[in-house]
Amino acid sequence: MTGPTGIPTEMLLAIESSCDETAAAVVHEGAVLSSVVSSQVALHAEYGGVVPELATREHLRNLLPVVREALAKAGVALGDLDAIAATRGPGLPAALMAGWTSAQSLAYVLRLPIVGIHHHEAHLYSPWISPGNPPRSQLAELRPHVSLIVSGGHTLLVHVRGLLDHRILGGTLDDAAGECFDKAAKLLALPYPGGPVLDRLAEEGDAARFAFPRPLLHEPNHDFSFSGLKTSVRVFLQKHPGIADDPNGLRDVCASVRAAIVETLSGKLLKAAASCGVDTLTASGGVTCNRGLRRALTAAAARRGWNLRLAEPTHCTDNAAMIGVLGEHRLRVDGPTPFDTETDPGWELASGK
Ligand code: KG4
Ligand code: ZN
Repeated sequence: MTGPTGIPTEMLLAIESSCDETAAAVVHEGAVLSSVVSSQVALHAEYGGVVPELATREHLRNLLPVVREALAKAGVALGDLDAIAATRGPGLPAALMAGWTSAQSLAYVLRLPIVGIHHHEAHLYSPWISPGNPPRSQLAELRPHVSLIVSGGHTLLVHVRGLLDHRILGGTLDDAAGECFDKAAKLLALPYPGGPVLDRLAEEGDAARFAFPRPLLHEPNHDFSFSGLKTSVRVFLQKHPGIADDPNGLRDVCASVRAAIVETLSGKLLKAAASCGVDTLTASGGVTCNRGLRRALTAAAARRGWNLRLAEPTHCTDNAAMIGVLGEHRLRVDGPTPFDTETDPGWELASGK
């Protein structure tokens, strides 16, 4: 199939390497045939955070094996490919370069067009990918909505009026929601990566036992600020020494911290939707794996009779399927990215149209 640009986009290989996941996917006519992710979590755990130099070396080591596995799982040969999509930004500079340059090299030797994708724009449209259904038709069914992108590096509220027609409403003024989860977990001496561990402990805790702030929840804007919440956890732990050593105390602190973050995120998303006059919500990015957030958004949407699309957990954390699905569409609409284009580690998510 070709779009307005005349570029064939049937069979596309996608590559993602913006942070600590090396990922490749094969997308056929917008449907995900295979998606392989090699996570570096265990490697960085020792250091309590992502070490860019190590991340880059791992990307270089793993990229071709991950590509080979994605092709094998899809039953597709290099010669079957029509195009390549890869993350061009934002992200860790050298990590991005590892994936983008490898994608360029493949495109060069295979004489294929390449399209550079914005990592957060791919997260933005990832709730419209679901296994078993052709994602392209779901993108085509996309209705006006407000979207929450919550990851380790970003917290954004976006008004999507149509496919690739979006406008940023607000974002975080300091720490991202995932960063807040991770830093709170670190203060509680939980193993890396903290967010998922804190989430698991919170499941059995009493969220009403301790009161943590809900920053900017009632302010008339669409912005977030999580650094004060992190500080309040630090101060709380200084005032309650030993609380995290008691299993019940630890679970209750986790549940109370999670409730503060979740209520802030869901409250601001609902307010933004109301102010934009839409009745459809979506959420994506690593923090959308959070069980408390998924339940809160499901309940809030049901109460209002609104539509909700949460990215599948496998499409919440970094993956190449979302790069391929958006890449296929971008390639058809905009055509290829010029071959001499470089990575853009600080690339801002632009308003579409
Ligand atoms: O989207 P992502 O994989 O990478 C970025 O682009 O940042 O998001 C990773 C973030 C980390 O901060 C991680 O702790 C957080 O998502 N995360 C969670 C959960 N699963 C992942 N945070 C809270 N609860 C979870 N279940
Ligand atoms: Zn991400």
